[in-house]
Amino acid sequence: MMPLGCLSELARRQRRWPGHAIDAMRVGLQCLTRTTDSLRFSYSYATSCADVPEVLPSETPLSDMLVDSFGRFHNYLRISLTERCNLRCQYCMPAEGVELTPNTELLSHDEIIRVAGLFVTSGVDKIRLTGGEPTVRKDIEDICLHLSGLKGLKTLAMTTNGLVLSKKLPKLKECGVNALNISLDTLVPAKFEFMTRRKGHSKVIESIDAAIELGYKSVKINCVVMRGMNDDEICDFVEMTRYKPVNVRFIEFMPFDGNVWNVKKLVPYAEMMDKVRQRFKGLERLQDHPSETAKNFKIDGHAGTISFITSMTEHFCAGCNRLRLLADGNLKVCLFGPSEVSLREPIRAGVDDAGLREIISTAVKRKKDKHAGMFDIAKTANRPMIHIGG
Ligand code: GTP
Ligand code: 5AD
Ligand code: SF4
Repeated sequence: MMPLGCLSELARRQRRWPGHAIDAMRVGLQCLTRTTDSLRFSYSYATSCADVPEVLPSETPLSDMLVDSFGRFHNYLRISLTERCNLRCQYCMPAEGVELTPNTELLSHDEIIRVAGLFVTSGVDKIRLTGGEPTVRKDIEDICLHLSGLKGLKTLAMTTNGLVLSKKLPKLKECGVNALNISLDTLVPAKFEFMTRRKGHSKVIESIDAAIELGYKSVKINCVVMRGMNDDEICDFVEMTRYKPVNVRFIEFMPFDGNVWNVKKLVPYAEMMDKVRQRFKGLERLQDHPSETAKNFKIDGHAGTISFITSMTEHFCAGCNRLRLLADGNLKVCLFGPSEVSLREPIRAGVDDAGLREIISTAVKRKKDKHAGMFDIAKTANRPMIHIGG
């Protein structure tokens, strides 16, 4: 339970780290809201959060386990279901692929549900399934069904490359997936083949359309922008939002092991923004939720919206509410932080829930206030993106 006393502890910590005061107070407010029935925290953020249901007071007890030493409350768990993928995106993995963890060392269906359940009873209300590519996991529907049944979970999201999604989506929707982010980095089929080292452009477009038809609100399209590759398509993607009710998110290219990152390939947010401003008038910045990764904009007369994920040039760590459970059962508290702790090993050694909570809590408390600068990140050993899942 997140006792109200915990808020005064947060306040005390904020005095020690004044730079975090505002964000931590916001986070504290979320905690307070969820513990106080008479308060109602309604997201008035008119952003790509449109697919996130209004946050109503929850009966789920909030746990100190999910609060880090900077007062950030982590209500969002990303679960990587597999290290495998049916594409080979250049920004994600080397052409030769990556070393795969043996199947016996990956979390089983039951282990995933147990760990997820523990997080949800502690206050996680949003789970995002990632990979590799989550839809290649054979028991994906069953996992979704069990996760969406966890009491207290409001959003069961998935980040997918969309290659086989259109076929699987009706069933996934029935199994409780209620928010979708689909990767699409180019509108040119031949370029798709070059960037992903596989065919399938039309399948991804089909999946985006299927998601809209099935009633998914604000389907997010993730577009990683790389100089000389797809930066000439930024305005075409914006043009697409004129008629398609989607949220196109332009993402700064980030360094991970094996993706040959180079600052020259990075197109900074400011430069992308300039391009868009020159061509489109009536751009309006929306108010973003404090824990948003994206800077969100609407454009007069467009059915969809656009956003920028600026991890490299303007980090957003102060509002971070994310934890990551990797396919091998390691808990990763920061996308760019190399430190990980295994949950699989203690689980298989028979640890009880209290013990598991203790391990998670210790890892969360060690989370750093922000990630390193891009050049340091590029030099630090991390995992390849395909293992982390974004
Ligand atoms: P929402 O839950 O819809 O906000 O999506 P998301 O942005 O959390 O997830 P998604 O899987 O769609 O990732 C889009 C981009 O954001 C990818 O490039 C991710 O690597 C990046 N991203 C996701 N979470 C984090 C994070 O905690 N820190 C940073 N720096 N980038 C992140
Ligand atoms: N930089 C930025 N985003 C990336 N993604 C994968 N690799 C990178 C990278 N190097 C994005 C994919 C996917 C999400 C999980 O992460 O586009 O949508
Ligand atoms: Fe697969 Fe996604 Fe990586 Fe592309 S970015 S190779 S689709 S996991």
